[in-house]
Amino acid sequence: MINLRISEIRAREIIDCRGWPTVQVDVYVEGRLMGRADVPAGRSTGTHEAHELRDQDPKRYRGLGVQKAVANVNNVISPALKGWEVVEQRKIDMAMVALDGTPNKSRLGANAILGVSLAVARAGANACELPLYRYINPNAHVLPVPLMNFLNGGKLTANDLEIQEFIIMPVGARSYAQALQITTEINEVLRDLVIEKYGILATNTGDEGGFATPMRGIREPFEFMAKAVEMAGYTDDVVYALDCAANSWFNRKKGLYELGGERYDRDGLIALYKEMADKYPIASIEDPLEEEDFEGFAAVTKELGIQIVGDDLFVTNINRLRKGIAIGAANAMLFKVNQIGSLSEALDSAEFAYRHNYGVQVSERSGETEDPLISDLVVALNSGQIKTGMPVRGERTSKHNRLLQIEEELGSAAVYAGRNFRRPA
Ligand code: PGA
Ligand code: ZN
Repeated sequence: MINLRISEIRAREIIDCRGWPTVQVDVYVEGRLMGRADVPAGRSTGTHEAHELRDQDPKRYRGLGVQKAVANVNNVISPALKGWEVVEQRKIDMAMVALDGTPNKSRLGANAILGVSLAVARAGANACELPLYRYINPNAHVLPVPLMNFLNGGKLTANDLEIQEFIIMPVGARSYAQALQITTEINEVLRDLVIEKYGILATNTGDEGGFATPMRGIREPFEFMAKAVEMAGYTDDVVYALDCAANSWFNRKKGLYELGGERYDRDGLIALYKEMADKYPIASIEDPLEEEDFEGFAAVTKELGIQIVGDDLFVTNINRLRKGIAIGAANAMLFKVNQIGSLSEALDSAEFAYRHNYGVQVSERSGETEDPLISDLVVALNSGQIKTGMPVRGERTSKHNRLLQIEEELGSAAVYAGRNFRRPA
């Protein structure tokens, strides 16, 4: 094998789409810049996510700076990995985990470790002259169904809608390109409907590009989406989904969920989901309950018989996933690389999910940059589903546009997951 040795790793502080600092990492191989990657960050984060190291210095970026994480890459990780073969992804990731030495990457920072991990993957792919998806998996060929979050609430918007994401999945499309076309057309009709009832101000968007309207509860958003879908002529081509992010409207003291002016206990809330799923073709619900209620997740999975996705529940962590699988909590895992903090560990969790018949849904964070890395990842995983926001802002369009490129590159090998999004054929 030719020498593909890491000669240097350099990090810098850059800005994400919310104006918050994040980490960007460059990996040099044999003296040449070979791979670069940006680290995403959440706002509606799970308690059990790996530790994102922020400076806590109120004089810079109100404490959100990442200069410590940058210094950890430049002064600790870079010297430790110098001379390593860039294609040894797993060895490199495990070495960083050991170098950190904490269970949640709190010493070096999950943002420092992940930045290196992703940039090493890019550098390995570039050094081998392969697109990243093919470098990770020579059998990569499934284009995902995009979960488009048309109406946004929760922590990702400045409105009173509790449920974070009301989603349309264009499962009837024949290709990713057509999926994008269908959803964009529906969004234009939805815009008109929102303006008609709530005025133009209601078409401001949340962190992930969906409209942030004054709607409340769960029923009205569905009425709007269904009407827009029908008027756009796509009723038979779409199904619906939710990311409830139920943590953010669970009243922990009272042990009750507070939604649209009503209070629900776990069973009451499951009954509400059931009512909605009987009325609309809902195919997937993420985080329908709060993040510690594994038994509740098992109950809702059994009761609804649709895809139930664990985000804050699993945090891409194989230990939490194992606990869930043991009792049938959810039947799919949300895949967010920064929740666990290295590519290899995230891939381990995905593999474990597949082995146990769980789906894997690759996801954006609310804090993204223009780096489209998750588009390569979703195809590499043949996962069949991606949540990467509405294609109306640059940090989201970069992912959609990268998927269009990949679809074209794959040519006749490309398969759009469509209705088989949970278990692509
Ligand atoms: P986050 O939101 O990136 O702020 O965590 C997205 C989600 O909850 O899925
Ligand atoms: Zn979520």
